[in-house]
Formats: sequence, structure tokens, C-alpha cells
Amino acid sequence: MVRYRKLGRVELNVTQLEKARRFYEEVVGLQYVDTGADGGIRLRCDQEHHGVVLYEAREAGLRCAGFMLEDIAQFEPLIGRLDRAGLRAQEIDPHTCRSRAQLRAVRVFEPLVGATVEFYVPLPDSARPFQPTVARIQRLGHVVFNTPDAARAVKFWRDVLNFRESDAVGEFITFMRCWPNPWHHGIGIAKFERHCLHHVNYMVTEIDDVGRALSRLKTANSDVVFGPGRHPASDSVFLYFLDPDGLTMEYSFGMEAFPEAFPRAPRRIEPSPLSLDYWGSTRDPRCFTGAGANAAPDFSAEKTGEKA
Ligand SMILES: [Fe+2]
Repeated sequence: MVRYRKLGRVELNVTQLEKARRFYEEVVGLQYVDTGADGGIRLRCDQEHHGVVLYEAREAGLRCAGFMLEDIAQFEPLIGRLDRAGLRAQEIDPHTCRSRAQLRAVRVFEPLVGATVEFYVPLPDSARPFQPTVARIQRLGHVVFNTPDAARAVKFWRDVLNFRESDAVGEFITFMRCWPNPWHHGIGIAKFERHCLHHVNYMVTEIDDVGRALSRLKTANSDVVFGPGRHPASDSVFLYFLDPDGLTMEYSFGMEAFPEAFPRAPRRIEPSPLSLDYWGSTRDPRCFTGAGANAAPDFSAEKTGEKA
């Protein structure tokens, strides 16, 4: 059994670092923390040390998704399960961990979602109050992976990583919880022709945050590509928009919560025009298609050691 707290951090590659930083700070409402020795710009959107890291790269896309474990005791069963599945978890060096306010972290390239994933425990006193700015973001919500191998990926995240299925829309997308985190989904696995980012979500406090975002995004020339609408699966009100590189980001308000014991069974929702939005908005084809490929596994930080 492996127990999680939540999706804790997402690393993104962007093609113009300063432009992206301004967008994520001024339009999305994240806050600058610091710049890592590896050049990553760390931003926060809730009480954690940071939740999003931007790196400059030739191609934009998902670089890494990091999941916070419940406690340090979770590493042993996790590493054992990965090992039995043929994946060797690599320790992230202590310097890098310290600079990210982590006690311990491991990294693995998960070939089914085609992305680097990390598992970590934060330093005990790293959380501090977060004062929202343009949007009352409560937390980093979820990340959805696009993969041609969706069915096998769902099985891996369920059977090896101990995530739990909440709902699926046909063969197209499966929503999974970072068990025992109650929120309907901390990840999604979507079927697509290539491995790339589907979207990253930020959960907001009020429905007004979704409405106010519409005009702010318009002023910033960010394209709203789906919504506002309501997802039948999780009951969330959503708004999807593109970052300067065309990566899909989402604000959502409200989400079904599951009890740890005796949760309802996962449902299979039949795909239909209204199965992603029962308010009936039309999705722009650029929504959910990612900009570029997921970043290739890069474990070079272990060799160089990021200075704290
Ligand atoms: Fe979402």
C-alpha cells in the first residue's frame, strides 16, 4: 500500500521563460518563489513551498509531475512496487531536495504516460500562508497526461502506484485519485496519438474566479479554448485557456470528494457531446493537445547536484 497527499508540483518547459513567467504570475495568479540553480523558475499557488516550475527549452511541454507522499514511510513500499514493475526509482540528491524544500524525493520515467514522475515528502516546516492575487487559487489541482497507451497506463497507476479510479469517459479519459486524497482526481489519463500534456488544473475558491478569469484572459490575449462549463464526471465548473506556448491550463471550481473507506464505485460515462460539459460549450481543437512532446528523461541534476 502506498499513500499519497496529493499532486504537489508540475514542471513545464516553455520557449520564452520571461514571457511565460509574466503570464503565470500576472494572468494565472501564481507567485514567484525563487530561481533554482538549474534555471527553473519556481512559483507557488497554495501554501506549499512551490507548485509549478518553468524551464526554458526549445519545445514547450510537460517536464515532470511530482506527487507528495503521505510520509517518509511510503518510500519503501513505493520503491518496491516500482522495482517489481521493472522501474528503478532514482534518488534525487540532497542538495536538490533541500533547494526544493523536500526531505526526500525519487524520480522515475514512467513509459506508459511517457513522462518523468517524482515522489517526495516536503520538509516539515515548508508550508506557509498563501495570499492569492488575481485568482483565489486554493491549490494545484491535477495534471492530465495524453498517451496512446491509456488503458495500460490506468492499470499501472492503479495496480502499481495505488491510485484509485473515480470515473472514466468511455475509452477517452480516466480520472484517478491520489489515494487517500479525497478529491475526485489528482491525475487524468487521456487517450491521444502521442505522449504530451493534456492540461494542468488550478482549483479556485469561488465561481466568480472563473467568471473574472474570462475578461482577464481576454485582456491578456490568452485564448479561452473550452468553457466555462461543468464536467459531469467531477461536477466541477471549468474554464480552459492556453499559456503563451499553447499549453492548456484550467481553473475549476468545486469537485466531488471521496471518503477513504467505502468510496462509491468508479463509473463509466458513455461518451457523448455532453459527457465533458453539460453546459454544452464547444471545445477549440487546440485544447488538450499539448504544445510539444513531454520532455525526455533528464536525470542530469543527480550528476551536477543543484546547489541549495
Ligand atoms: Fe481538469
